[in-house]
Order: sequence, then C-alpha cells, then structure tokens
Amino acid sequence: MTDLVPQIKNKLHGKVAIVTGGASGLGEVTARHFINHGARAVVIADVQDKKGQNVAASISPDRCTYIHCDVTDEDQVKSIVDSTVSLYGQLDIMFSNAGISTLSKQFVIDLDMSKFDKCFAVNVRGMAACVKHAARVMKEGGVKGSIICTASVMASRASPAGGTDYVMSKHAVLGLMRAASLQLAGDGIRVNSVSPGMVATPMICERFGAEKEVAMKKVEKFSRLEGVNTEKHVADAVAFLASDEAEFVTGHDLAVDGSFVYPQ
Ligand SMILES: NC(=O)c1ccc[n+]([C@@H]2O[C@H](COP(=O)([O-])OP(=O)(O)OC[C@H]3O[C@@H](n4cnc5c(N)ncnc54)[C@H](O)[C@@H]3O)[C@@H](O)[C@H]2O)c1
Repeated sequence: MTDLVPQIKNKLHGKVAIVTGGASGLGEVTARHFINHGARAVVIADVQDKKGQNVAASISPDRCTYIHCDVTDEDQVKSIVDSTVSLYGQLDIMFSNAGISTLSKQFVIDLDMSKFDKCFAVNVRGMAACVKHAARVMKEGGVKGSIICTASVMASRASPAGGTDYVMSKHAVLGLMRAASLQLAGDGIRVNSVSPGMVATPMICERFGAEKEVAMKKVEKFSRLEGVNTEKHVADAVAFLASDEAEFVTGHDLAVDGSFVYPQ
C-alpha cells in the first residue's frame, strides 16, 4: 500500500533556482533549504555582496553562486536570469523574495513620497521584473517552472502602526501573482506566493531595534499558534510550492503565519 504513495525526499532534485534577497533572512534560509532538498544549483541575487558571497560559500561552493543583482534595475534582473540559464542550462525555480520595509511610520497623512517610491521600486517593480524575466526564459526553454513571490500577512490586511507603502506594495504582489498565474498557466508555469507572519529576520530585528533573541520573543505574540514563526517554516512552504508535490497548485497565496494576530 505504501508503494502507492512515493516519498519525495529530494523534492527539488536536479532543479536550478534563483533566490532574490538570498543574502539574508528568509532568502538565505530558503537557498540553503533548496540545496538540502537536492537542487542542482542555486543562484543568490542580492545587493549585499560580501554577505551574499559568504552565504553562498557556506551553503555549497560548488552548487551555490552569488551574483550581484539590484532588482530595481531591470537590466540586472535580465542579466542574472540569462546568466543562470547560460551557466546551468535552464531555470526551474524563481523565488522572488527581495523586499524592504520602510522604517518610519508612513502614516498616509504624512507619507514620505520618496520612501514610498523606493519601497515600490523594490517590492513591486523589482518583483514584477523578476517574474517577467523568469517567465520569459522558462517559456523559451519549454520549462514548466515554478515562480514564488514573497508577499506578507500585510498583503491582505493593514497595520494600525502605519507602513502604508509597505502594505500597499504587498497587496500589489498578490495582484502580480494572480495575474501572472492566469497568463502563464497555458505554458505550464506555476506562480504562487507565500505570506509570512512575523519572523525575526534582520529586517524585523532592525524594526524592533533588537537582537535576534529578543526579537524572537516579540514575534511570538503575533500568532495564535504557540511558538515562534521561523525562517524554516517559510522555507518549507516555498520548497513545497517549488516542487512537483505542488504540480497542480497555481495562483495560490500560502499563509505561513501561525494564524496572525496583533498582540493585545
Ligand atoms: N521577516 C518578516 O517578518 C517578513 C514578513 C512578511 C514578509 N516578509 C518579506 O520577506 C522578504 C524577505 O525579507 P526578510 O525578512 O528576509 O528581510 P532581510 O532584510 O533579512 O532580507 C531581505 C534581503 O533583500 C535584499 N534586498 C533589498 N533590496 C534589494 C534589491 N533592490 N535588490 C536585491 N536584493 C535586495 C536585502 O539586501 C536582504 O538581503 C521581503 O520581501 C519581506 O517584505 C518578511
């Protein structure tokens, strides 16, 4: 009976992936996870060069590469996608994850428009460029690939603490994911998103002005499930969406938030 249910241990065996924002936080842990699940190659795309090079070397000097790529510059996105195909023959997975949050409150009444533009340049325009060029090479190569965008719990709610531009940008990621999933389904390319709750990455530590241990205590209060929402929870969800286990899943936003709640 169990023979009928094959266990996929190396669920990403032989696949080639790009992880944007892979020098830190969710991207770093997911890049490592991809290799642990048998990915043939992972290309980390980020703007933190030293950190990205160290992360790539620590994951696997043979199978993980760092390439500088500012996702706000479409030429750099095109170039990294084309380089990946030249180096490894194809692109199977695009984890479009690079993102920033605005540290100031950004209440609508005193919205700083230059910060707003910066937030949108990375979180929306950059995300769209990554989906565009990944889809292009997947289509050209006849690859039934998987594109996963990092959205957020803030993609479907707002925050009383402000962050108007960030909230708007993450709502836009869902729009991008849904539109692209419809347009690319005919080519067998799946497009999904993950929506993490609060994870104590460098982004959140900076927001709290706290070290990781302290930030982890704070994020615990943002989920109804007991425990801490970690990078690994998100990486597991991304690996699932990237794998053939999710071969009939597209246009889906997968919440990984332990049932998000604002602390009382
Ligand atoms: N940590 C959370 O609680 C949380 C929750 C929901 C969504 N997210 C989203 O998860 C994603 C990853 O965030 P994180 O928490 O790991 O933060 P992080 O700051 O640790 O990592 C983000 C990475 O993106 C990179 N990056 C920023 N701008 C870039 C650009 N223009 N081009 C290329 N790379 C760039 C940074 O250098 C950094 O390495 C973001 O999209 C964020 O909005 C995070």
